[in-house]
Amino acid sequence: MSIASPTSYLSSFSLSVNDSILSSSPLKYLKFPRFWPWQKVKLGPLAVSPMGFGTWAWGNQLLWGYQESMDSELQEVFNLAVENGINLFDTADSYGTGRLNGQSEKLLGKFIRQKQMRDNIVIATKFAAYPWRLTPGQFVNACKSSLERMQIEKIGIGQLHWSTANYAPLQEQALWDGLVAMYDKGLVEAVGVSNYGPKQLVKIHDYLKARGVPLSSAQVQFSLLSMGEDQMEIKNTCDSLGVRLISYSPLGLGMLTGKYTPSNLPRGPRGLLFSQILPGLQPLLSSLKEIAQKRSKTIPQVAINWCIRQGTIPIPGVKTVKQAEENLGALGWYLSPKELLQLESAAQESPRKMIQNIFQTR
Ligand SMILES: NC(=O)c1ccc[n+]([C@@H]2O[C@H](COP(=O)([O-])OP(=O)(O)OC[C@H]3O[C@@H](n4cnc5c(N)ncnc54)[C@H](OP(=O)(O)O)[C@@H]3O)[C@@H](O)[C@H]2O)c1
Repeated sequence: MSIASPTSYLSSFSLSVNDSILSSSPLKYLKFPRFWPWQKVKLGPLAVSPMGFGTWAWGNQLLWGYQESMDSELQEVFNLAVENGINLFDTADSYGTGRLNGQSEKLLGKFIRQKQMRDNIVIATKFAAYPWRLTPGQFVNACKSSLERMQIEKIGIGQLHWSTANYAPLQEQALWDGLVAMYDKGLVEAVGVSNYGPKQLVKIHDYLKARGVPLSSAQVQFSLLSMGEDQMEIKNTCDSLGVRLISYSPLGLGMLTGKYTPSNLPRGPRGLLFSQILPGLQPLLSSLKEIAQKRSKTIPQVAINWCIRQGTIPIPGVKTVKQAEENLGALGWYLSPKELLQLESAAQESPRKMIQNIFQTR
C-alpha cells in the first residue's frame, strides 16, 4: 500500500501550471496535473507527492474544534486530495480527543475504503511513546492496533512519535527495537521518527542501520515561523543521512494563513499562543501578502511553497474543502531565490517564534 502508479495522475488533472500563459492560448482548455509523476519525492522505498495532508484535526476537539458532523466534508477533502495526486496522509495513534481517540486513523481507513484507491495511498502514522509501551512487543501491538483501526494490511511509514531520551532514556531502545520488529514483520514499508533533534537522529539512524532497517523520514515543526538554527541543523543532518524531512505545522497552526489577527484569534488554546506571537508577525505576514499578490497566489500557498523549496515535504492540516483546494495551489510553481530571501529576512524580524514541541530533542 504505497507507491502510486504513474498513470494515476493522468486521470487527475487540474489547472495549476502557468495559468496566466495558458489562459490566453488555445491550450487554455487543457488541464495539467498539480505535479508530474517524475516530481514525486523519494522517501526511502516510497514515492510520495511533494506535499502531504495532515490529519491531526480529524478527531481533535480540544485544539481544533472537531465534530463528527464534519466527517462528510472530510471525506470530500480526502477525495479531492487523492484526485489531485496527493498520496501522503499523516496521522497518529494518539490523534482524537477522549472517546474519539484513534478517530483520525479510523476516518482515514474509512475514506480509503470509500474512495477505493488504497493501492496509491501512503499512510504515515505515528506511534506514541506512552510510558506503558515498555517492550518491543508492546510497540508492535500498537502498530497492529493502528492497522486494525484503518483496516489496512500495511502502513506506509511507521513513525516513532517522539523520543523519550530526555526523560526515560531506558525506554527508548525498546521503542527502537519495536520499530525494527514491525519493519521485519512487514507491517510497515518504511520507518520514520518525529520530534528528533540532530544528535538523536544520528543515533537512531546508526542503530537502525546496524539492524538492517533504513531510517526513511524525520518529521519536525518546520515553517517560516520555525526555521531557527536547530531546525536548519536537523535539515542538514537529514540531508547528510539521506533521510527525508517532513515539515509539520507548515502554516504555524494557522498563523501563516493571514486570517488571524490580534483582534481575531481562534478559540481555545491556540488563541492564547497566537495572542503572543501575532503582534510581532507583521513583517512576515506583509511579505507573504506582497509575494502572494504579485504571483496571484494566496498567503498559505506561499508559506507552504517555502517549505517545498527547502527540500522538505510539508503536511499542512486541512479541515475543509476550501482549505484543501487552496493548499493544493501550493504545488506546480516555485518561489524564486530572491523571494525566499525576502521571506526569510522578514521572518527573522519577528520577535517571537513558534514554541518548540516539548518532546523535541537535541
Ligand atoms: N509529529 C508531531 O508531533 C506533529 C505535531 C503537529 C502536527 N503534526 C502533523 O502536521 C500536520 C499539520 O500541522 P498542524 O495541523 O499542526 O498545523 P498547520 O498545518 O500549520 O495548520 C493547519 C490549520 O491551519 C488552518 N488552515 C489550513 N489551511 C488553511 C487555508 N488554506 N486557509 C485558512 N486556514 C487554513 C486550519 O485550521 P483553522 O481553520 O482552525 O484555522 C488547519 O487545521 C498535522 O495535521 C499533523 O498531521 C505532527
